[in-house]
Amino acid sequence: MDELQKQAEALREQIRHHDHLYYIDATPEITDQEYDRLYHALLDLEAAHPELVTADSPTQRMHGGIAEGFETVEHTVPMLSLENTYNTADLERFHESVLKGLHGEQPTYVIEPKIDGISIAVRYENGILTQAVTRGNGKHGDDVTANVKTIPSVPLRLRCDNPPAFFEARGECYLPRAGFAKMNEHRLATGQEPFANARNATAGSIKLLDSNEVATRPLDILFYTQGLIDGVEITSQRELFDTFQRFGLKVQKWSRVVQDYHGMQEAIKELDELRKEMPYDTDGAVIKVDSFRQREILGMTAKAPCWAKAYKYEPERAATKLKAITIQVGRTGILAPVAELEPVFLSGSTISRATLHNEDEIRRKDIRIGDTVLIEKAGEVIPAVVKVLLEKRPAEAVAYDLPGSLNGRCPSCGGPISRDPQFAAWRCENIQCPAQNVRRLEYFTARNAMDIESVGGVVAEALCENGFIKEPLDLFDLTLDQLASLNLGTDDEPRIYGPKNAAKALAALDASRTKDLGHWLQAMGIPEVGSATAFHLGRIHKDLKDAANSKYMKALLDLLDLQNGLAPSRVDEAMPPDDLFAPRQPVGLDVLVPPLERAGLIKKSSARGAYVTTTIGPKTAQSVLDFFRSPIGRKWLDRMNRLGINPIGDNAGDAQTASGPLAGKVFVLTGTLTSMGREEASARIRALGGTAAGAVSKKTTYLVAGANTGATKTAKATELGVQVIDEETFLRMLQP
Ligand code: IVH
Repeated sequence: MDELQKQAEALREQIRHHDHLYYIDATPEITDQEYDRLYHALLDLEAAHPELVTADSPTQRMHGGIAEGFETVEHTVPMLSLENTYNTADLERFHESVLKGLHGEQPTYVIEPKIDGISIAVRYENGILTQAVTRGNGKHGDDVTANVKTIPSVPLRLRCDNPPAFFEARGECYLPRAGFAKMNEHRLATGQEPFANARNATAGSIKLLDSNEVATRPLDILFYTQGLIDGVEITSQRELFDTFQRFGLKVQKWSRVVQDYHGMQEAIKELDELRKEMPYDTDGAVIKVDSFRQREILGMTAKAPCWAKAYKYEPERAATKLKAITIQVGRTGILAPVAELEPVFLSGSTISRATLHNEDEIRRKDIRIGDTVLIEKAGEVIPAVVKVLLEKRPAEAVAYDLPGSLNGRCPSCGGPISRDPQFAAWRCENIQCPAQNVRRLEYFTARNAMDIESVGGVVAEALCENGFIKEPLDLFDLTLDQLASLNLGTDDEPRIYGPKNAAKALAALDASRTKDLGHWLQAMGIPEVGSATAFHLGRIHKDLKDAANSKYMKALLDLLDLQNGLAPSRVDEAMPPDDLFAPRQPVGLDVLVPPLERAGLIKKSSARGAYVTTTIGPKTAQSVLDFFRSPIGRKWLDRMNRLGINPIGDNAGDAQTASGPLAGKVFVLTGTLTSMGREEASARIRALGGTAAGAVSKKTTYLVAGANTGATKTAKATELGVQVIDEETFLRMLQP
């Protein structure tokens, strides 16, 4: 080993050691500055000598880039779920069935908290983290390796000298309560919808396509079971925990070992008290037979093992008085009733508001103002009203009449309201309603949409209140003076936005004009289109016009119709002859399937042999087509046209049939290009008919390696047989 290599390895060892102390033992020995110094020393060394970079180097946590999607991976052994029980009598039966199964042999049980997150399998080959997979359907899951690598407590290399050939640790990925609360605060502050609970936020975070974004989410994993193992002998749950700890894999602090049903009961009671103080959400206790030999004797059913049970706790509830019901006007005009409560302490926070969902729910639960209600916070941020304590109902409690309480008018604009049968909700009919305008503007400027932080929140409110903005695209007509004079305070205590902020906001607005199609589609607030769908729509279309009259959405719906025995009606002869879907009548699978498959929108369901949708379902597809045919959608198109904004998509699905010298070629850019920025390079690739993608995959044709290219990307390219080219070769390809 040469000197530099030794130096790099020594730095890595030190960083791993301090990572373990910080993230697993919670006993750091050095300051953040000292740690940063080590980390940057390694970064610098690796940048100067890219050949020194190893896959398990701590610097490689952040090298996932932006993925196009997740590959499906088969589990080494199926990831089973557990059978739930809700009462201790069931546990007694469980104990009896174990005794019976073991023919009188005595079991020992291990009891652990049931973490409320999502399960993940992490594979180590010869001690190196090689793959991380979500549970999926238990047989197959999604490859989320790049995302899991960003989780600092997960070692990229097992902490042992003689690692087993194969070791698959399985556990629960979760967001700690504190980190989750902070994340939601930030979302609210930047005009984004908060996540309903930590579990949803975890599931959403681990499936983000941008691993740099994942790295900003404070995810963690606690390990509790194993997949395939080769090269180390483990005979019980207790030994498994010891091994995890020896390897530097994080496990839960609390567990109990008991011998019988009474022991179970006591441990479950003890845990119920403790879990309220735990730094992460738990929703039960898991009871497992300790011995792996006994587990084998007990066996399993199709879905769950016979040697384990999950005991689920009742969600926490509290009783409090319902003082009033207020109405919140949402982005789409839906009037959401909110319970205003006598403040009450529940699961770690004081609650003074709870969601009442809609009018029907209030009626069904017979909730009246003045009632004492039971509220529940089953891991939800916004608690819900479960039921009324009828025995506490005062004589003067009044039934709630939503339209009556509003005199049939929107509380924000005073406009007429009507009942929308589809959503069991009342809706403000006035699309110019100021409350709706504000919500739409906040949605438009949110980070996952146009990302114009300087005009979100209070600024958005002031802009609407002053009448400067009625719809998001009015932003592009704002003048410096209008913005600069904006009062964010009150008449008595004015807080003027000022010319400096105004100039910054205008620059941000200008930059947003060239945001890609995916972000624009997200910002438009098309019904059914969330950020993942918007991303995929952006990926498969050329530009906004292409998405607005989407051949893909039409073909998707046609294909599903065809499979359901209906005549396809959307993709037809009206399509231009050189069109991708250019069909010869009658339209059949041969026309519809190949482009949809290439775009990754459908796959063959192994169970039925039919095609199923992957990322965009029929309801969403229909909604996209409907939106652009509606007056609102047409107005967006018209206005953007006049503003000269035509967001460009990735058009990956069309790559094979696009024209131009680079047609069918998929480029991935890495490192720094000296002659142009990445945006420009991507635009020029597209202009010549090629595709610019974010991460190296089997579909990549060329990896363009600029200066300071990391070794992992090139290594991956070589492994996949992707040609690596330098900037000069790339520039030659761009020549007309
Ligand atoms: S053991 C063969 N232990 O609960 C079963 N699971 O309903 C292996 N979970 O899918 C699972 N905490 O996602 C086990 N301490 C724990 C757990 C736990 C949470 C989750 C896990 C599993 C689900 C089963």
